[in-house]
Amino acid sequence: MSITLSIIYLISTITFVIGLKLLGHPETAKKGNSIAAFGMGLAIIGTIFLNNLEVPIFIYILIIVAILIGSVIGWLIAIKVEMTKMPELVSLFNGFGGASAALIGIVEYGNNQADITQVTTIIAAIIIGSITFSGSMIAWAKLNGSLKKDIRLPKYNLINNLLLIALIVFGFFIVNGSINGEIIIYILLLFSLIYGILFVIPIGGADMPVVISLLNSLTGIAAAITGILYDNMVMMVGGILVGSAGLILTFAMCKAMNRSLSNVIFGAFGGDSVAAKKGSTIGGHIKKTNPSDVAVLMNYADKVVIVPGYGLAVAQAQHVIHELEELLTKKGVEVSYAIHPVAGRMPGHMNVLLAESNVSYDKLIEMDDINPQFKNTDVVLVVGANDVVNPAAHNDPSSPIYGMPILEVEDARSIIINKRSMNPGYAGIQNELFFNQKTSMLFGDAKETLTKLVQELKNM
Ligand code: TAP
Repeated sequence: MSITLSIIYLISTITFVIGLKLLGHPETAKKGNSIAAFGMGLAIIGTIFLNNLEVPIFIYILIIVAILIGSVIGWLIAIKVEMTKMPELVSLFNGFGGASAALIGIVEYGNNQADITQVTTIIAAIIIGSITFSGSMIAWAKLNGSLKKDIRLPKYNLINNLLLIALIVFGFFIVNGSINGEIIIYILLLFSLIYGILFVIPIGGADMPVVISLLNSLTGIAAAITGILYDNMVMMVGGILVGSAGLILTFAMCKAMNRSLSNVIFGAFGGDSVAAKKGSTIGGHIKKTNPSDVAVLMNYADKVVIVPGYGLAVAQAQHVIHELEELLTKKGVEVSYAIHPVAGRMPGHMNVLLAESNVSYDKLIEMDDINPQFKNTDVVLVVGANDVVNPAAHNDPSSPIYGMPILEVEDARSIIINKRSMNPGYAGIQNELFFNQKTSMLFGDAKETLTKLVQELKNM
């Protein structure tokens, strides 16, 4: 490799690390993305033109045309995509990354059958790449609603785990030369694709974010493996960064949802957590309120904290909640938003939703920082959130969400809960907070109810 290419790879690697660091905060994320994309562009150009490839000019033309077509399609999709469709897009990107690794594996198997290290990386690229591809396609179909049912074969956990073991054993035999030949590689590819489908198909829609994060991490691992295959440092580092970042996010989500990773990988997730609904013994008297009483309460409050949840996203009430926040701020009330890491149905769901309505980032306070502040809060307004404020996570060891960190809203002086009914949230369990003496239930669709509340406040 030429010195110039080594320097280019070094610069690209540094841009990936800086980019990833900047992606950690909403304010710097855009800049981080551009820096890493610039580094990636540099690495691609360097790889094509400074690698002394002895190929006809026609191949260069093909590569450039392919890059142009891919870039235009990617650019068009990315500028058009709605914020709420982001997980679908990520799913597609993961799938394409996995497919690339699998295709590289297939092509390179023909050239490297004699070298055991190369064959090992090729087999790993084919297995991981194809699982990522077919799994991501199923995830994409589930997220865009074209695949509505969670299909569960009888004993699906057992079948999946046996198939995974069979794939690993099959791969091992190819590596040690017990079986070989082109056709064998295609059989491995086929069964890896089948495993990817079976792995994702039983999983419930609400658990998709964890699966997507896991598949994202697998895409990174597949890219890192192909980097090893080509002895390409920048491909390896890029893959490792994606793989480890994806894994960290997967762990963070598991922790925030009180699940172990083994529970996720070995299939006991998806329907099972919802199936773990327990017979509720919670009950008692609830207090109902209305927009006009809540407006009075808020008008005379010093500090109001808004807790957004999944229902806010469903109702598309992000703009009206921002209007409420601005109105209260004008009246001299201190307003902030309490953000739980798994509020909603995808990582950063509430941040993305509120950013769409131009809520200032410094008003979004993370769980660990806001929890101590509830004691000094006059009014907490919980909008379409349920599990993330359920005290059973602290008080009831038999609850499916026991141990999940929650927003401790019961410490506030008054609690207003806006939802449409007494129905439970995602975890399928009742919430004792609704029966708390400090709680008043503000029933109704979030958008309609908040619009009335804003109107009442304007009239005061
Ligand atoms: P949930 O516990 O699911 O509660 C949402 C509440 O919104 C429901 O109780 C529902 O009650 C209400 N709602 C629905 N539509 C509404 C509307 N139009 N207007 C007003 N309210 C409405 O949500 P959460 O508190 O945000 O918790 C998230 C849950 O999802 C957690 O259990 C978490 O583990 C899980 N989860 C999160 C993620 C990520 S990464 N964020 C991924 C997978 C799963 P009504 O039907 O009575 O209105």
